[in-house]
Amino acid sequence: MPLYETGTLTEALPTMNQEKSDEYLVQLCAGLKFLHRHKIAHRDVKTDNVLITAKEKRVVIADFGLSEILTTIDTPVSTIKGTHMYISPEQFIQKEFNAFKCDMYALGVVYWCMVFKVDVFDLKSTEQMKESINTLCDTSIDWLVLTNLLDPSPVDRLTCYNLLCVLEQPEYRFTDRIASLRGNGKIFYQSVINV
Ligand SMILES: Nc1ncnc2c1ncn2[C@@H]1O[C@H](COP(=O)(O)OP(=O)(O)O)[C@@H](O)[C@H]1O
Ligand SMILES: [Mg+2]
Repeated sequence: MPLYETGTLTEALPTMNQEKSDEYLVQLCAGLKFLHRHKIAHRDVKTDNVLITAKEKRVVIADFGLSEILTTIDTPVSTIKGTHMYISPEQFIQKEFNAFKCDMYALGVVYWCMVFKVDVFDLKSTEQMKESINTLCDTSIDWLVLTNLLDPSPVDRLTCYNLLCVLEQPEYRFTDRIASLRGNGKIFYQSVINV
């Protein structure tokens, strides 16, 4: 694995801007799509586990220490995994849950950090995170993405496939980024993963 001298997404948060956060959201979603298609749940998605390449153009999903390879996309898991604020609520409530949907909740927390330029560890509670989302315009794509990914109900939470489809809609500002990503195809999906 190469050394990514730019460091982690956590370190990049204070200087985050919308251009970067849009790009990173799409790339992370594409990276998770690649993993989930191969039935790999990361289980510890967080800003500390996302590295940034030298020219800050690309993010790389790292640290597969808690990852699981599952038999099918519906195979339930029962072990609570992840890091504090990134752990989806159903892991504390249900005996069994879908690990891929847990990754999507954690992606929501990562996106929250990028939108608000704040490390989630500076927060005291999940409620604070929810309240800040309500300060966004409720018709904005950021509100929609955050509200959906951080939905306590995993059934209602989008998969990475569906999230990319939503972002691709022409009314949102992500359309062109996804088009260029699809143009690069498989090579791109693989490039955002670093096992
Ligand atoms: N290839 C790398 N390039 C730059 N920094 C790295 C790299 N791998 C790990 N790090 C840094 O080390 C930290 C810990 O590495 P990680 O693989 O996440 O292991 P763990 O969290 O299990 O200790 C990361 O959060 C990151 O700051
Ligand atoms: Mg780590």
